[in-house]
Amino acid sequence: MAENTEYGVRLGSVQETLLIPLYGRAVENSKPEPALRDPRADELVASIDYDFTRFDGLPSLTGTVLRTGLFDRWVADFLAAHPAGTVVEIGTGLNTRFERVDNGRVRWFDLDLPDVVDLRQTFFTDSPRRTMIASSVTDGAWADIVTAHSDGPYFLAAEAVLPFLTESEVRGVIDLVADRFPGSLLALDTAGPSIVDHQDQHDALSKVEARMAWTCADPSRLSDWRAGTEVLASHTLSSLPPRMYDELPPAYQDMLSGLATQRLPQVEEYRLNLVRFS
Ligand SMILES: C[S@@+](CC[C@H](N)C(=O)[O-])C[C@H]1O[C@@H](n2cnc3c(N)ncnc32)[C@H](O)[C@@H]1O
Repeated sequence: MAENTEYGVRLGSVQETLLIPLYGRAVENSKPEPALRDPRADELVASIDYDFTRFDGLPSLTGTVLRTGLFDRWVADFLAAHPAGTVVEIGTGLNTRFERVDNGRVRWFDLDLPDVVDLRQTFFTDSPRRTMIASSVTDGAWADIVTAHSDGPYFLAAEAVLPFLTESEVRGVIDLVADRFPGSLLALDTAGPSIVDHQDQHDALSKVEARMAWTCADPSRLSDWRAGTEVLASHTLSSLPPRMYDELPPAYQDMLSGLATQRLPQVEEYRLNLVRFS
């Protein structure tokens, strides 16, 4: 258990990182022209005793919001095609994606480590369509729970989770998902070498203990890991899908256009990917 108890939350070190995107969504929600609305995140931040001010003004907060916006779109697209499909939020933290994309029919699972699920249960409750699972993603028993209580088709979202695992653990997760959820989609983010090598200087990670372990220089190579794996999309924050970019507030469009011309390694090497397993 990490020494973050002084702030009122008892979370392990990698688990503490959930507070970064949570705060990002809360800050965003308070902006007059936000990229994403999340009033629930505002409420959660107000009720958690933690020094969130350490993250104030960090560019990464904006990055987390844009990443969440793209993952939301991918899930919404999946539900448009499969309204009664199943979504598994891997390493859900205090994510509120269900609140943003629920269509009244989706079957939803929120998976995270036990101390996170304990915290999550303070704020969220299970329902016939929504179930929390306390487990590491690396322990395949969670897949038994999901398949016992849902029919699919399946969309799995692992937002800001897998880079904290070792490559061997990530390979195990990919094998597990491919074996247990054939035909599924998996959304995941990847961090390249200059991000992982310089993470001690990362604006947000430098404020917490957790560190990334998996370096992925080229997510297109994921298709080499398993026969039948297809990388359907891979975006940087400065090359978001035009459909999403066009709907962002003008200030975001200007900022992202500027980023695209600079080609900073920390932007170019951070990718948001959508993978399909046959
Ligand atoms: C940066 S947070 C992201 C939280 C959430 N996905 C979001 O975007 O708001 C990383 C999350 O991954 C979870 N996590 C890390 N390792 C995990 C594992 N082995 N199994 C399940 N969850 C894990 C952490 O507990 C934490 O909630």
